[in-house]
Amino acid sequence: MTETITLGQFIIRQQADFPFAKGELSRLLRDIGIAAKIVNREVSKAGLIDILGDAGGVNIQGEHQQKLDIYADRQFISALKSGGECCIVASEENEGIIRLDTDVSKNAKYIVTIDPLDGSSNIDVNVPVGTIFSIYRRKTTEGRPQLEDVLQKGTEQVAAGYIIYGSSTMLVYTTGKGVNGFTLDPSIGEFCLSHPNMQIPESGFIYSINEGNYVHFPQGVKDYIKYCQIEDPATKRPYSSRYIGSMVADVHSNLIKGGIFIYPVTASAPSGKLRLLYECNPMAFLIEQAGGRATNGDERILDLEITELHQRSPIFIGSKNMVEKAESFNLLNQ
Ligand code: AHG
Ligand code: MN
Ligand code: MN
Ligand code: MN
Repeated sequence: MTETITLGQFIIRQQADFPFAKGELSRLLRDIGIAAKIVNREVSKAGLIDILGDAGGVNIQGEHQQKLDIYADRQFISALKSGGECCIVASEENEGIIRLDTDVSKNAKYIVTIDPLDGSSNIDVNVPVGTIFSIYRRKTTEGRPQLEDVLQKGTEQVAAGYIIYGSSTMLVYTTGKGVNGFTLDPSIGEFCLSHPNMQIPESGFIYSINEGNYVHFPQGVKDYIKYCQIEDPATKRPYSSRYIGSMVADVHSNLIKGGIFIYPVTASAPSGKLRLLYECNPMAFLIEQAGGRATNGDERILDLEITELHQRSPIFIGSKNMVEKAESFNLLNQ
């Protein structure tokens, strides 16, 4: 019989590698795992209850909020608040930072940034959606934690990961020592280690981009897409095109099979669409830890300076050789 290792057991084993650590990060990851199970429960029965669809509001990104966007946002914030290991949450769904002001939380040493529900416009059509999270250490040493505690470069991440609510639900994360994936076993209600030490193939044969926006792409991006489509048996081109429309699902698929996910600048999104804090940085950290690469077309995503909470960035992320090839094109200029 093969050994089952639950997320909780795995976290405790990892913790044993740091005898002087107090276990705060472990507890924080555990809190995220708990919220993920609650959100999973609602996502999986979404068709049965009155939780599907547009909530009628518009978020700070100018997007129509889905009911599940709001539900997931509240669940993660509430789990982090009761867990007591996080002093600030910054979320795609909220305009400003959220200080967790309980007696325990206000002095906690970690910051969490979160995309509570990624791909939320796909909920009504039963396509995989996800959650993306990042953990940073608080920088200020006294008083209330501040916005500057959140505006840290991607290289400062202590941990990052995502949950994919798909045909099965998985939690995939890194603490900077490789990437491990856990699949939710609904019969015992636990995430179990199913994908230890995940590595993204160095080369892949899938490109993921919303080609409907083709006319609005910079010439270099158009040229790279053409490169993917040209027949060349030696490099196994043409590549396959796959685009789910949930970053989590597209990047997860490419992590396992090899591939490149692209959201470039477009005429209507001159800084790109995806958000540095909630989407680009956590995915870049995780994919680099799996042996891949992530750039904005000019610079490594993790090295980008961040000045605003909801700052956006173009992104090219995935298999190392594919991203490097893309970088040989002029990806930013219109
Ligand atoms: P979110 O649902 O968190 O707002 O993110 C949506 C993002 C991302 O998941 C996806 O890759 C991208 O938007 C899809 O955008 P297009 O519909 O413009 O292709
Ligand atoms: Mn959104
Ligand atoms: Mn998203
Ligand atoms: Mn979202």
